Amino acid sequence: DETTAKRKDAHLDLCATGDVEPSQNSTLLECVKLVHCAMPELDAADVDLSTEFLGKRLRCPLLITGMTGGTERAGKVNKDLATLAERHGLAFGVGSQRAMSEAPERAASFQVRDVAPTVALLGNIGLYQAARLGVDGVRRLMDAIGADGMALHLNAGQELTQPEGDRDFRGGYAVVEGLVKAFGARLLVKETGCGIGPDVARRLRELGVRNIDVSGLGGTSWVRVEQLRATGLLAQLGAEFSSWGIPTAAATASVRQAVGPEVRLVASGGIRTGLEAAKVLALGADIAGMALPLFKAQQEGGLEGAEKALQVILAGLRQAMLLTGSKVCADLRRRPVIKTGELKDWLAAL
Ligand code: FNR
Repeated sequence: DETTAKRKDAHLDLCATGDVEPSQNSTLLECVKLVHCAMPELDAADVDLSTEFLGKRLRCPLLITGMTGGTERAGKVNKDLATLAERHGLAFGVGSQRAMSEAPERAASFQVRDVAPTVALLGNIGLYQAARLGVDGVRRLMDAIGADGMALHLNAGQELTQPEGDRDFRGGYAVVEGLVKAFGARLLVKETGCGIGPDVARRLRELGVRNIDVSGLGGTSWVRVEQLRATGLLAQLGAEFSSWGIPTAAATASVRQAVGPEVRLVASGGIRTGLEAAKVLALGADIAGMALPLFKAQQEGGLEGAEKALQVILAGLRQAMLLTGSKVCADLRRRPVIKTGELKDWLAAL
């Protein structure tokens, strides 16, 4: 219906211009230090960032995580950022395809294969919408955009701050179980900025989930976005809970420990620099995910604005690899990692 699309454009406006990253929230990546190697014995040109994702080879271990679709403006965001992903060999996700399931004429704004024929591409749907659509409905959404996989998003914190949001969160694992039977390693389960912790991750892995994006606290807060749209009780609750969540550094390290090596782990939520991307790779992620910074750069400067922002991120990641003496991404994880302060407290409890 019309309201889903309208809500999405209101969300885009708030994310482009509003204060959607509460300054007191932290990824706790400032508690992570990588160790300098004075003798890297590497040629910068030989640093190899490539990795595997959804059966494809990425040239960089980066995912532009799902944001949008459903309106003309959203379609332009998807086209520009998918173009960027194709240029640099990153993975790309579209935003929630709920708008598309409600009105198939909105499908065009989710189509990116014309500009991103080889990209590892993720569709996107919320857990409870997936329950309503059923496995076949979700598969139709994935196939309709030629995606390589489907992201299933969890957002209980956001829903509770939305007047029209879900309140009944029972039966979630059963939905995941049905989807994982049908999609196998093409399914990715993600949060939206409050983080997936080790207990949930372990259960997901036991059900057969092979891709998890922790999407932790420290970047875009969807509770804050909804707070900015809300009035009365919900606005107050939104303010109270806009720093709720598991910081990205804590989620990444604890989930890797919990799920072992067979899960492809994406770390997102507040990653803003190449050095931060290197830190999450060192903490155990296979891929670093980013949403808001590339969206904002695209809104301000179009495709070439986003290109410039990405250049800085890629250069920072390459520099961190070189200065830790890491030739391939897996080397980063073998290097010592210093974890200080509050991150240590989190990891002691998780
Ligand atoms: C999002 N995010 C999101 N996630 C999802 O699974 N489905 C969606 O439709 C959206 N929509 C969306 C719109 C916009 C404008 C932003 C900025 C984000 C969440 C996103 O994928 C990611 O999990 C979080 O934003 C955390 O990453 P950043 O933004 O801190 O890098």
